[in-house]
Amino acid sequence: MYAVIGGSGLSKLPGFQLERRQVFRTPYGEPSGALMFGHLADEEVVFLARHGYGHTIAPHQINYRANMSALSQIADLDGILSVASVGGIRPDLLPGQLLIPDQILDYTSGRPSTFFEGSAQVEHIDFTWPYDQTLRSGLRAAADAINESVVFGGCYACTQGPRLETAAEVKRLARDGADIVGMTGMPEAALARELNIPYAHLALVVNSAAGVGSSAQEISHAQIAQVVAAGMSRVMGVVKSMIQLHRD
Ligand code: HPA
Repeated sequence: MYAVIGGSGLSKLPGFQLERRQVFRTPYGEPSGALMFGHLADEEVVFLARHGYGHTIAPHQINYRANMSALSQIADLDGILSVASVGGIRPDLLPGQLLIPDQILDYTSGRPSTFFEGSAQVEHIDFTWPYDQTLRSGLRAAADAINESVVFGGCYACTQGPRLETAAEVKRLARDGADIVGMTGMPEAALARELNIPYAHLALVVNSAAGVGSSAQEISHAQIAQVVAAGMSRVMGVVKSMIQLHRD
């Protein structure tokens, strides 16, 4: 079974038939909410809203370890499809574009970001390619199957938030090699790797990053809301397609 982690704009899964909610206890505290078990496209799926079901948890306050620890308790978990809203840094990554990144730059600070603490035996996990390549290819095939265009590859920069970046910060991210910017990709991806859970991101560009293109002067929240509304149904199309291909 796949887990879907929904980000901003996806605190519910359209078409998801909920069967049971289960509250997981973890040594790291409380996850963002109960895990929702049910069916999507006739396949078993578990869903978690990263920011909580009322979208009340800020990116830096999400208990990423509790979320991942809870998901890791599911016996037949095949992988995590993590949905994220991002800003487009590369000028061709316009609002509405879907992207399956292959790299990460981490600019977060102060977030508990490892399970290797206390008495745990330290392991320096390999993170050269932070996303699971099989899941990434699966997402691409899923998008192709429904004629949805996605950019395959790109570098996701994770900032601390919750404020958006300055134009100068985005210029620096671009110089560093980042293509998109979000606030929740880390430490989520690293924790998944520590637990050996295949993990991939499906990102929806919801705005041009600060200082880029139509965001030269400011980032319009009204415009973001429009892009999210239209874009998340396309994200869901890809997720459903992925789940159907997984079954076939
Ligand atoms: N910056 C950081 N995170 C984001 C953005 C952005 O421009 N858009 C959506 N999430």
